[in-house]
Amino acid sequence: MSSHPDAVAAKRRLEILSANVEMTRALGEQLGARLERGDVIALQGDLGAGKTNFTQGLAQGLAIVEDVNSPTFILANEYFSGRLPLYHIDAYRVADAAEADAFGLDDYLNSDGVTVVEWAERVRAALPSDVLWLTLDYRGENERRLEFSAYGEQSAARLDELKHAIGS
Ligand SMILES: Nc1ncnc2c1ncn2[C@@H]1O[C@H](COP(=O)(O)OP(=O)(O)OP(=O)(O)O)[C@@H](O)[C@H]1O
Ligand SMILES: [Mg+2]
Repeated sequence: MSSHPDAVAAKRRLEILSANVEMTRALGEQLGARLERGDVIALQGDLGAGKTNFTQGLAQGLAIVEDVNSPTFILANEYFSGRLPLYHIDAYRVADAAEADAFGLDDYLNSDGVTVVEWAERVRAALPSDVLWLTLDYRGENERRLEFSAYGEQSAARLDELKHAIGS
């Protein structure tokens, strides 16, 4: 299901059925509480799949106090009130990786914070190889299938911690 080009090469995977938006947020919060500097989370899923809700939970896990919303007319929102800086990118209007480079995606990815990218598949070539990729699929009005794939040591460590936290 994951359309990361090296889906078969994922070091770790985790598949979860989310029964409602609260559960998706709670998963984001559990992950956010465990993130470290330089972590990159790629979110893939259709309109309304739950990418922003997951990110809102993740921000809560980082102890960010501001409201987190989709960066609609700008490409990135930056939050500094939490345990680590959070850079929330929405690549919906970005054509390709070259355009992402032009707006400075690299600066976020190589920063001292955590970067979350919605519509990550549009800028896949600009993302680091060690990325935690989350694909969200619509299953019903309130149900979503979440599939995490970790592609390197750093993301695999984070996914292990998340698995441990949720007892999965
Ligand atoms: N299990 C679920 N997990 C997440 N969201 C859910 C779930 N069930 C229902 N929803 C609803 O789906 C919508 C998800 O919206 P959200 O903004 O998070 O999607 P998105 O993937 O960021 O979309 P966009 O591509 O427009 O940015 C919300 O209205 C939310 O209430
Ligand atoms: Mg969104």
